[in-house]
Amino acid sequence: MPMRIDILTLFPEMFEPILGTSIPKRAAQKGLVEYRLTNIRDFATDAHKSVDDKPFGGGPGMVMMAPVIFDAVEFVEKQDPRPAKRIVLSPQGKAFDQRTAEELAKQDRILLIAGHYEGFDERIIEGLEPMELSIGDYVLSGGELAAMVVVDAIVRLLPGALGAEDGAADETFTDGLIEHPQYTRPREFRGMNVPDVLLSGNHKLIAQWRLEQRKKRTQERRPDLWNRYQSGSGT
Ligand code: ADE
Repeated sequence: MPMRIDILTLFPEMFEPILGTSIPKRAAQKGLVEYRLTNIRDFATDAHKSVDDKPFGGGPGMVMMAPVIFDAVEFVEKQDPRPAKRIVLSPQGKAFDQRTAEELAKQDRILLIAGHYEGFDERIIEGLEPMELSIGDYVLSGGELAAMVVVDAIVRLLPGALGAEDGAADETFTDGLIEHPQYTRPREFRGMNVPDVLLSGNHKLIAQWRLEQRKKRTQERRPDLWNRYQSGSGT
């Protein structure tokens, strides 16, 4: 049975080009995953189709209303007996990383809630107890792009999503180091050459060189990852 990914959003059309392209599309065609988009606005109950309102206590921006989100979540959750792992995208969330993507790829049902405006009524978090995820320390105009990032990172990890040639096993972050440099044809380009070792045919030497490069780059570019790698905790 395919993993089911529900996405609750005010802008379902934003997702279509992403989910309909490349690996996310292929994964769905292979029956590994099924996407269901739901428009939060369909659950608004007043004449204006309101989904947000001014914050109590004053201040700028608008807040997503709890009743609308609860109704939308309950409606989509009833469509499938499998319990959904609920996720809210928000800059207040825990930092999304490869380890979290790996954990989420093991779930059989995920429900992502992408909000717009200043944020969610806190009772959405309190009552639905979602995992809150942030994709980085910057503020997007909505959770949609963040939801797409999370879906893409998860779906490509589903067994069979990637071809045999581009497996996800030994790539950046899986073992706590970033990637080594890569080269392809031509051997010489505008005076820049492919390192000799890669042309040597000596697989042991090549593997050694690549590991050295990965360590060097991680040390230089990502001291945070390097410290973790050295303290032996892996990712
Ligand atoms: N919504 C707005 N900014 C976000 C971020 N950085 N991560 C996740 N959701 C968001």
